[in-house]
Amino acid sequence: MNVRDSEHMIAELNKKEPYELTVELSDADLIIINTCSVREKPVAKLFSEIGVFNKHKKEGAKIGVTGCTASHLGKDIIKRAPAVDFVLGARNVSKITEVVDKKHAVEIATDFDESSYDFGEYRSNPFKAMVNISIGCDKTCTFCIVPATRGEEISIPSELIISEITKAVNTGAKEVMLLGQNVNNYGRRFGTSEEVCDFTQLLQKISLIDGLERIRFTSPHPLHMDDTFLHEFATNPKICKQIHVPLQSGSTSLLKAMKRGYTKENFLNRCAKIRNLCPEATISTDIIVGFPSESDADFEETMDVLEQVRFEQLFSFKYSPRPHTEAADFDNQIDNALSGARLTKLQARHTEILDEIMVKQMGAVHKVYFDELKANGRVSGRSDDGKLFFVEGSEELLGKIVDVKVTKVSRGALDGVLV
Ligand code: 5AD
Ligand code: SF4
Repeated sequence: MNVRDSEHMIAELNKKEPYELTVELSDADLIIINTCSVREKPVAKLFSEIGVFNKHKKEGAKIGVTGCTASHLGKDIIKRAPAVDFVLGARNVSKITEVVDKKHAVEIATDFDESSYDFGEYRSNPFKAMVNISIGCDKTCTFCIVPATRGEEISIPSELIISEITKAVNTGAKEVMLLGQNVNNYGRRFGTSEEVCDFTQLLQKISLIDGLERIRFTSPHPLHMDDTFLHEFATNPKICKQIHVPLQSGSTSLLKAMKRGYTKENFLNRCAKIRNLCPEATISTDIIVGFPSESDADFEETMDVLEQVRFEQLFSFKYSPRPHTEAADFDNQIDNALSGARLTKLQARHTEILDEIMVKQMGAVHKVYFDELKANGRVSGRSDDGKLFFVEGSEELLGKIVDVKVTKVSRGALDGVLV
């Protein structure tokens, strides 16, 4: 989501005057730090980064802080770091051209509606596009700061989504990544009958776009994975067979305290359904360890889900208490060392599972969409199920979907040859 917001900011700035990206800090006239606030660490890093940028920047260069930390700290950022010229919240991206010229401007309203705003076009990768389908989040997960920084959920009208994807396809993108905090809640607030469109229907409409070959989306919520949606996922050939199913915890009582809306059994049932309908699909997940009051038994429930589902990808985090969240005030916050030990155990077991999964890939053939030229005559791309591939080749491969046979396996990526 933040990567897409950054693209939108570049596109908007370019409407005003031509900007070019630079990797040289001392060349930059404008430095934007687009922040996350989901855990505490990146917030702490922000202020040290501002210090470094301020010290080494060109005379007169501006510094802007944008994104979720901007939303929740607002003008306090400027109080603490007066070198910052402007602060722009995660739901105010379209105002970048207004704040960029105003000293100490702060635009952070979380009820600002830019769901039908016509953003300029900019893609960091010409072969694939990211397209927002909703903004904000209506859930109340007790650990999560996002509803406080990105505001309530608004779905973007489907005609706008279709038109944006069509434009991207016409300029070389064969793949789209649909973005939302909770994509499969899409359309819940649409009122009139002609507007009605849920996520499954949206996927069906998008898959009619000529020239679009691959559809990905993130993140869906396990609670809204009904059978109709899973059937569409499994049978629509344009939908990539990779799905993120964020678990958070395997303990039903912790899931209740997190207000996730499902039990361990519901979650396992959805994953079993995916494996059953679509055995070739890969499943990734997010897990938080050390949520308040997590007992050894709760943690073992999480380990048990890991064992049963054997996720192909795991994003795991130590619980981090966040402002504006219920769980920050819960009793029984877990000792940092204990959370750390649990995280190590979880990740170590997942690494073993992943090694077992990946070794079976030797000799397998996948359709790979090549989208990036690397150093030393290598080209990278992804298989339909999301695996990262490298082959020897040149830019001629870029933008093509080609059969590739796996010749070397490692945990994070596969080497292959064209077949
Ligand atoms: N502490 C740790 N991890 C968190 N996440 C969200 N909030 C927190 C928090 N307070 C994780 C969740 C979510 C992912 C994007 O970040 O696992 O799915
Ligand atoms: Fe946060 Fe829950 Fe919304 Fe995801 S669904 S953004 S975890 S509140």
